[in-house]
Amino acid sequence: MNQPISTYKWMQSAIFLLILPLASLQSPTPAAECITLGTSGPMQITSDCIDPTYNFPIVDSETDEDSPIQHRKVSGHFNGTGIDFNIYMPEKARWGGKFFQLSYPTQNATADPETVAFAADSSAYAIQATGALGYRADAALAKFSRGVARVYYQQDPSLRIYGYLYGGSGGSFTTIGAMENTFGVWDSAVALIQAPLSANLTIGPSALWVDFPGGTGDPLTSLNETGRAVLEEVTALGLQLKVWEDFEGVGQNRSNPSGTGLADIIRLLAVPQIRGVDPTYSDDFWSQPGYLGTEKSPLGDIFRNALVEFNTTVQQVETDSEGTPIEIILDDTPPFIITKGPEFTIITERGKIGQFTGILDAGTNRASIQPGSNTTVLAAMAKGTQIQIDNRWNLAIRGYHRHQVPTDRSFYAYDYLRYSNGEPRYPQREVMLAPIISRATSGGGTHTGNITAKLIVMDNMLDYDAFPWHADWYKSKVQQALGDRFSDNYRLHFSDNADHSMYTLPQAQTARLIDFRGLYEQYLRDLSAWVEKAVTPPDGTKYSVDNGQVVLPLTAASRRSIQPIVDLTFGGESHIQVSVGQNVTFTVHAEVPPATGAIVSLEWDFYGVGDYVQQHAIQVGPVVDVEVTHIYDATGFYLPSVRVASQRTGDQDTSFARVLNIGRARVTVK
Ligand SMILES: *[C@@H]1O[C@H](CO)[C@@H](O)[C@H](O)[C@H]1NC(C)=O
Ligand SMILES: *[C@@H]1O[C@H](CO)[C@@H](O)[C@H](O)[C@H]1NC(C)=O
Ligand SMILES: *[C@@H]1O[C@H](CO)[C@@H](O)[C@H](O)[C@H]1NC(C)=O
Ligand SMILES: *[C@@H]1O[C@H](CO)[C@@H](O)[C@H](O)[C@H]1NC(C)=O
Ligand SMILES: *[C@@H]1O[C@H](CO)[C@@H](O)[C@H](O)[C@H]1NC(C)=O
Ligand SMILES: *[C@@H]1O[C@H](CO)[C@@H](O)[C@H](O)[C@H]1NC(C)=O
Ligand SMILES: *[C@@H]1O[C@H](CO)[C@@H](O)[C@H](O)[C@H]1NC(C)=O
Ligand SMILES: *[C@@H]1O[C@H](CO)[C@@H](O)[C@H](O)[C@H]1NC(C)=O
Ligand SMILES: *[C@@H]1O[C@H](CO)[C@@H](O)[C@H](O)[C@H]1NC(C)=O
Repeated sequence: MNQPISTYKWMQSAIFLLILPLASLQSPTPAAECITLGTSGPMQITSDCIDPTYNFPIVDSETDEDSPIQHRKVSGHFNGTGIDFNIYMPEKARWGGKFFQLSYPTQNATADPETVAFAADSSAYAIQATGALGYRADAALAKFSRGVARVYYQQDPSLRIYGYLYGGSGGSFTTIGAMENTFGVWDSAVALIQAPLSANLTIGPSALWVDFPGGTGDPLTSLNETGRAVLEEVTALGLQLKVWEDFEGVGQNRSNPSGTGLADIIRLLAVPQIRGVDPTYSDDFWSQPGYLGTEKSPLGDIFRNALVEFNTTVQQVETDSEGTPIEIILDDTPPFIITKGPEFTIITERGKIGQFTGILDAGTNRASIQPGSNTTVLAAMAKGTQIQIDNRWNLAIRGYHRHQVPTDRSFYAYDYLRYSNGEPRYPQREVMLAPIISRATSGGGTHTGNITAKLIVMDNMLDYDAFPWHADWYKSKVQQALGDRFSDNYRLHFSDNADHSMYTLPQAQTARLIDFRGLYEQYLRDLSAWVEKAVTPPDGTKYSVDNGQVVLPLTAASRRSIQPIVDLTFGGESHIQVSVGQNVTFTVHAEVPPATGAIVSLEWDFYGVGDYVQQHAIQVGPVVDVEVTHIYDATGFYLPSVRVASQRTGDQDTSFARVLNIGRARVTVK
């Protein structure tokens, strides 16, 4: 059944010895080099053109593996590129003529076991390349893998091997770049948690807010007028209101509450990045009219009062095994400063040498240095070096979004920062960051909407990295570009109770968030059936957009898409107050949208801690109604959760393509 290794050796030696470009193995006449749009535009990759960078795939090893499923693993690299790849081919009997390919800019070439097993369970082989900016390496692997698979499976060359690309977040940029600039390399794609604009930049002043002690709690009721204005701004720009329930997640690293969260990451990483492309921004912020640093308002006062500048001396520099400084101990630290992400400026007798960001621990006078900081700058530090600590940039970037209003008015949520005639309310920077990030990550792509193959997009309602309306924006681009071909080629789904985490959630978070892997597994299967068998996939989500907020209908029948809807109540009420030891009766109604399978499981987390202790036996079907009683034996406020899974074929036993959702309610136990 399996091809002897010698066939590979032949392929390998063809590549090695004859130094034949890959494409010439596939087509009888030598193919032309792929062309680039303009001088620096995205490369247009066809099924047989040659990418001059990724034209020498080299197979380094091939092994037969039996975990997580039996498969032939072919590992290799593209010569001289730093890009490795792996091809995971299940046995011939399980294979149905296709492959799935995950893309993410910083991934390695090793697919995780579930990815390999899911592909095999879907009659596909899985492939994965080292992440890169853009889609070119992925495209080269997609093409090369077809040759490898044809040999391994002895596939008739006249039969198409279908290829499906998918990627989330940064990987959605790669995916969109690929869908707009490749032709016949993939047959369609799934883009997940898509953010054509860098949503991070719009968290803005609210990132200041979450720093304030006492800022925790219900943001809506505990805010004063200034706070409400800030909330109104970030809400209009697209940060979904419900996200604030995860106050720590928006503000802090939720895996490590004493560490750094999104707002902190933004400052640690964004300060050096924005400084690099827009070096005068901070000075302008603190001196020019129209910026928060000079604005005569309570919010302007808050910014100015938070400004700290402090001089101290390095006592000790600690380095890693390679001699790179990772931490410094200082003589003294400022009495008050936002400790995450201030800038440290090194001053020697030669003057200011340069800056780095870091995290300050005022208790121990230690500062950990942000990894990736400029090593030339760090090398200038020794015992006795003078250091200036300040938060000028750290504060200034929280207002950056006001000065980054897209000129393209189709980015409608930014109307909040525009006058009615379209002119921006605040001075604009010459440099626009989001398009730079977007273009680089998409391999030069510009989100034209002109997709060359079918595309399913999934964005998540509680995502504070990629705002839901961004996907609505891209949908309108596709609509414009495709016209009446639109509904034959595109779907947009919103998942409820999901955020940006592609992988396993911390347990506590599962009380309010679902693992959305099963959703995109199903979208990949829908795509494959759409392409190969012309099976029209389920409708996208019905939704409306109001003031930057995406709003979903409440019933499965009106919302459509594929996610079940779960209502958890106490006989219709969403809140109940009971005494310790009293019987509480929960009512659950769960329903899948039309023609999207059946509910296959229902689990309880009565305390809202992410511990789904009780699996409830149910009758598998499109609608499930159950009543359950529970007794709370301690006083408190609880947010119990019920989690259901639907599965397209109603398979209770499979771990794949289980589509989750949760229902929640409130219990006060006196
Ligand atoms: C691989 O790249 C190196 C230089 O990076 C080159 O010397 C060598 O000939 C290349 N090998 C093949 C098979 O292309
Ligand atoms: C590849 O990346 C994954 C996820 O970050 C990691 O768990 C795994 O150890 C990495 N594998 C290799 C071979 O580097
Ligand atoms: C936001 O920033 C984080 C941390 O840098 C990054 O992981 C994430 O991809 C960013 N999201 C967007 C949409 O830019
Ligand atoms: C509003 O609340 C913030 C944060 O708690 C506080 O810093 C500020 O002084 C309050 N008052 C005004 C007028 O902004
Ligand atoms: C968040 O916390 C986890 C757990 O401590 C840690 O592994 C991770 O590196 C942290 N992330 C950042 C950006 O600090
Ligand atoms: C810190 O040192 C710099 C350079 O010597 C000086 O310009 C600045 O005024 C000092 N700042 C404070 C707060 O002392
Ligand atoms: C690092 O800092 C030095 C000194 O300021 C500068 O010349 C160099 O360009 C910087 N390197 C990078 C990669 O930014
Ligand atoms: C979209 O791309 C195709 C080529 O794939 C081109 O023929 C067509 O004109 C483009 N449409 C738009 C609206 O740019
Ligand atoms: C709670 O309700 C259930 C179901 O109605 C019943 O079986 C159970 O005996 C009740 N327990 C108490 C303590 O009332």
